[in-house]
Amino acid sequence: MEIFFYHTPDQAPAMSKDAIKGEQVPDSPDCAIVIDVLRATTTIATALKAGAEAIHAFKDLDTLLRISSRWPYKNRLLAGERGGQKLDGFDLGNSPFDYMTDAVTGKRIFMSTTNGTRALDRMQSVSLLLTASLTNRAAVVRFLKKRQPHTVWIVAAGCNGKFSLEDTICAGAIACGLGAGLDINHYAGNDESIAAISLFNFWENRLEDLISYTKHGCYLASLGYEEDLNYCTQLDIVDIVPIQVEPAVLKPLLV
Ligand code: MLT
Repeated sequence: MEIFFYHTPDQAPAMSKDAIKGEQVPDSPDCAIVIDVLRATTTIATALKAGAEAIHAFKDLDTLLRISSRWPYKNRLLAGERGGQKLDGFDLGNSPFDYMTDAVTGKRIFMSTTNGTRALDRMQSVSLLLTASLTNRAAVVRFLKKRQPHTVWIVAAGCNGKFSLEDTICAGAIACGLGAGLDINHYAGNDESIAAISLFNFWENRLEDLISYTKHGCYLASLGYEEDLNYCTQLDIVDIVPIQVEPAVLKPLLV
């Protein structure tokens, strides 16, 4: 297995669907994994664990409102976040704690967040698309070990187009779970992947400290979301893998 890590969706190579006529582009990877530890992919795993029927992810709000209005009212919930805050008129924000309730059971969640759902949109054409967070890292690793895709792209949502340390740590955690910490040469497809593995090895036992130092972590704490930071750094507590079953729709796979 060869793991390529990209710090932002824009760093991931163009795929055939994005190709400008006549341009040579790499084929899609065998598997892509989108990460937004703070907080979209942590929240997606939490919602599906809590029994949500599916997550339908949107990069823009107008499309979300249009498509969701076709779904039966009693079976849907709208989740919207911008700048870390829940949007007016939406049922849920982006805190994983919003989803730890029976109210999500059986519901389709129509979700749009600042960075996470945009990253998912960018990777939508990959035939095997998953989301990962620190909380479901072990489940993702078990899935990859079983499925054995050759080329894996781990794509961080990043923060407004910039590098995000917590997503990098999560990429390293996945790679190390696969055994890359002991055999970097065999697994690492690019230097970003080696850097992620090294960072995870360094911070593994102090994830909560680390996240409180990150820019996005400090910002969420300033909004009163300290508890979210603690939850989002808990390794391997959720045993499901969110997997794309149709474009932009993720359902849970129990692993
Ligand atoms: C995002 O998608 O940008 C985030 O998940 C932001 C947040 O922490 O709510």
